Amino acid sequence: MVRAMRVFYVTTPIYYPNAEPHIGHAYTTVMADVIARWMKLEGFEVFFLTGTDEHGLKLQRAAEEKGLRPKEFVDLMSGKFKEAWVKLNIEYSRFIRTTDADHEELVKRVMKELWDKGLIYKGSYSGWYCTSCERFYDEGEYVEEGGKRLCPVHLKELEWFEEETYFLKFSQFTDYVLKVLKENDVVTPKEYAREVVSKLESQGLKDLSITRPKSRVSWGVEAPWDPNHTIYVWIDALLNYLTGVKYYEDRGFFRKFWGSAHHIVGKDILWFHTAIWFSLLKMIGVEPPKKVIVHGFILTRGRKMSKSTGNVITVDDLLKEFNADVVRYYLMRIATLDKDAEFSLDNMKEAYNSELADTLGNLVRRLSVLAIKKLGGEVPRSGVDTEVKEAAEKSLNDARAEMKNFRFSVATVKIFDLFRFLNAYMNRTEPWRKEKPTYELYNSIEALRFGTSMLWPFMPKTAERIAKVFSFNIAGFSDLKFGSTEKFVVTEAPILFRKKS
Ligand code: MSP
Repeated sequence: MVRAMRVFYVTTPIYYPNAEPHIGHAYTTVMADVIARWMKLEGFEVFFLTGTDEHGLKLQRAAEEKGLRPKEFVDLMSGKFKEAWVKLNIEYSRFIRTTDADHEELVKRVMKELWDKGLIYKGSYSGWYCTSCERFYDEGEYVEEGGKRLCPVHLKELEWFEEETYFLKFSQFTDYVLKVLKENDVVTPKEYAREVVSKLESQGLKDLSITRPKSRVSWGVEAPWDPNHTIYVWIDALLNYLTGVKYYEDRGFFRKFWGSAHHIVGKDILWFHTAIWFSLLKMIGVEPPKKVIVHGFILTRGRKMSKSTGNVITVDDLLKEFNADVVRYYLMRIATLDKDAEFSLDNMKEAYNSELADTLGNLVRRLSVLAIKKLGGEVPRSGVDTEVKEAAEKSLNDARAEMKNFRFSVATVKIFDLFRFLNAYMNRTEPWRKEKPTYELYNSIEALRFGTSMLWPFMPKTAERIAKVFSFNIAGFSDLKFGSTEKFVVTEAPILFRKKS
């Protein structure tokens, strides 16, 4: 019997391209790419979606400030996100833009369906709005300072809007969302779900204003039932996850991937990705995603890195100092989902010197130089050293277990434990003192092959360079099998990481 290929669908939030991508955005995208690559090595067929969220007031204003038409501006800026992801070796399956024709079409069709189902009604809305968040804040949610109302995320003054709008009947779905949150264990780490549950239990879901008068927000998808309104940017944006897997275009494709949907999101947008998103899906008869993976913020000097806060380090800034793999590694090294992560260049340099240059770089260099010097660059199979085999298998099992729970930082430690072990093994067995250290070198390189495959999702180019030096391939985890390599043909390794002072 042919076993059906296991599938995995992973998404990042789609980013507002109002400014250049910074490390906070890179954090989520690298995380998704690492998961996507890891799942490929686990044997899954992966679909990885990322992109840009291009409509709404925030983008309309950013374009105005630059004196450009909105479409010209988002073309330019979404290009910058694409470029950053190329530079960081992000291997997405599709880069979606909410201005893509198939997405705009999908938004119209879904909204029309909701209208036809009688779930939308006309009313008026007044409230305090944060354009950076693209959402209203109620009393009790905003910060009051010196008689001003400030956004709790950006600490910027809120604006008062009072206007005609259409509402979507979310209030009927409180119990449904609570049920999904409680029974499906959908939010990871669990603690984040508590916040949503308690808000739902105390206040319930309210009907949400889902259109804006075109006179104020012209840059958006037109409401199919009223040409004077555009669709609220968050509703437009969430639906990208359906467009990405061809919800209308190809039902077979959609069905294949949807059941495995994993959304990676920052903690600031969890409400939208649970309460609002699950209800919206329910309204059109689609099951909720399998998992919402939530992470904290990247902080600089204790504050969330963001354009509005003014403490941004862009992806380009960082790539001037470190190569893409180093950036990827360090972001995952500090990635703990349940806590915010302070980003510091000093700590990054320290991890670079001790973990990348001294541990990994040194190991690779030593093994290659010794294999050439002592064995003429050919390391044939020899007996298996069970101690090395066990260390390699333990590192693999540990890293797999951690990655199952999306514990990126701990997974990198488990992988580097193997590299540390191998350096210690070399120091102990001193292969340079032996005439033909085939046994020590074969076992060490075999273990390095394990480590390199595990490293590939985090540092793809580095892993590929190492694999080339020792003539092995990056292998799926179930194909690794310690002792299965017949012979390594070794060439001199380049210096992978030059130490920084
Ligand atoms: N456009 C919406 C998402 C729509 S998804 C249907 C949005 N865009 S955003 O550009 O403001 O943020 C996108 C993601 O980047 C969010 O998950 C947010 O948490 C994340 N980050 C932005 N700054 C961040 C940090 N400083 N640290 C970590 N992640 C951060 O929200």
